[in-house]
Amino acid sequence: MKFFVDTADIADIKEMADTGLLDGVTTNPSLIAKSGRDFMEVTREICGLVDGPVSAEVVALDHETMMKEAETLRKIADNVCIKVPLTIDGLKTCKKLTSDGTMVNVTLCFSANQALLAAKAGATFVSPFIGRHDDNGFDGMELIGDIRLIYNNYDFETEILAASIRNPVHVLQSARLGADVATMPPAVIKGLFKHVLTDKGLEGFIKDWEKTGQSIPTS
Ligand code: E4P
Repeated sequence: MKFFVDTADIADIKEMADTGLLDGVTTNPSLIAKSGRDFMEVTREICGLVDGPVSAEVVALDHETMMKEAETLRKIADNVCIKVPLTIDGLKTCKKLTSDGTMVNVTLCFSANQALLAAKAGATFVSPFIGRHDDNGFDGMELIGDIRLIYNNYDFETEILAASIRNPVHVLQSARLGADVATMPPAVIKGLFKHVLTDKGLEGFIKDWEKTGQSIPTS
């Protein structure tokens, strides 16, 4: 499973990239607004920090303007992945861009049928929003499972990018169901490392080690 971080915060992206476990970044207009930075500038900076795909979202609602915005965004760097909404205009844009070899992430996916459309439009990634699905009384994991089944049935190459992840259990369940990618807020990625028994075990080992009076040579 690939790990993307869902943020436009440079310090967080650097911290995650330093772990060596980061495969890409997703942003959206809300995250850009939260960063308080210029969209083009911050996207360029993020693209320089990771080798993998960096999703940058168009904000137009019509196909023609989406194409113009995508044209500007894809010039930022080779690893820009254009994010488009799951609408008719968004999927028209997806089809056109992916036919030209540009990576596209189709966002705001809330049903398996929408995911089927995204795959038919040649999307590189489809982003089912698990957390928002759950928040509204639906089952986000059922959605991931349905999309996996449908994509397997037809050998679609579109990668399932589990998005709107709220906690480590969402990551675990997405991995069990075969999502290709999980995009997570930095706090959720950090949460994956944690286990109370790891902390307790480490504390015990260090205490016992100190009793030996020994040290491991470091040079
Ligand atoms: C994904 O690409 C989106 O940016 C993100 O996961 C949305 O998450 P939210 O529902 O926490 O805003």
